Amino acid sequence: MKRVLFVCLGNICRSPSAEAVLKRTLAVRKLSSDVAVDSAGTCNHHIGEMADRRMQSAATKRGYDLESIARQAIAQDFKRFDLIVAMDRQNYRDLESIRPGSATAELKLFSDFLANNDPVDMPDPYYGGAHGFEQVLDILEEGCDALIGYLKTTSRP
Ligand code: 4NP
Repeated sequence: MKRVLFVCLGNICRSPSAEAVLKRTLAVRKLSSDVAVDSAGTCNHHIGEMADRRMQSAATKRGYDLESIARQAIAQDFKRFDLIVAMDRQNYRDLESIRPGSATAELKLFSDFLANNDPVDMPDPYYGGAHGFEQVLDILEEGCDALIGYLKTTSRP
């Protein structure tokens, strides 16, 4: 069993969507029992909230159910998960700043799983229009198979 944690800023747009897209992709590939998926945010502003309504609406249209409740990423996550995936480089830096010396999780950027690492930062849709939420889902759907392929190549110590 591998454990994957997606992390964005608020845990109400990008990372809960990443969680839902990966979970469904795993289900379609009959791999749900092999991988546990969770999400968290680097900031504490939205703790306890459901995903942003605009993100939920875009996700629902594609058949995803955003069920996660926002929480903040903590140092312990670096011991509980095998792979932590930051949505953008700021999230990555913020995670590095809480990474304990005893971390066992590997830290990667979501764009590590995209062709040509493009876009390197998953665009933050929070202050933009409806297109941004669709774009997040497009990028997530593009990268999920490569992420699953990567998990298959890594084995837990
Ligand atoms: P997320 O989006 O990091 O993808 O969940 C955001 C959510 C909230 C804020 C910014 C981005 N905010 O500024 O409150």
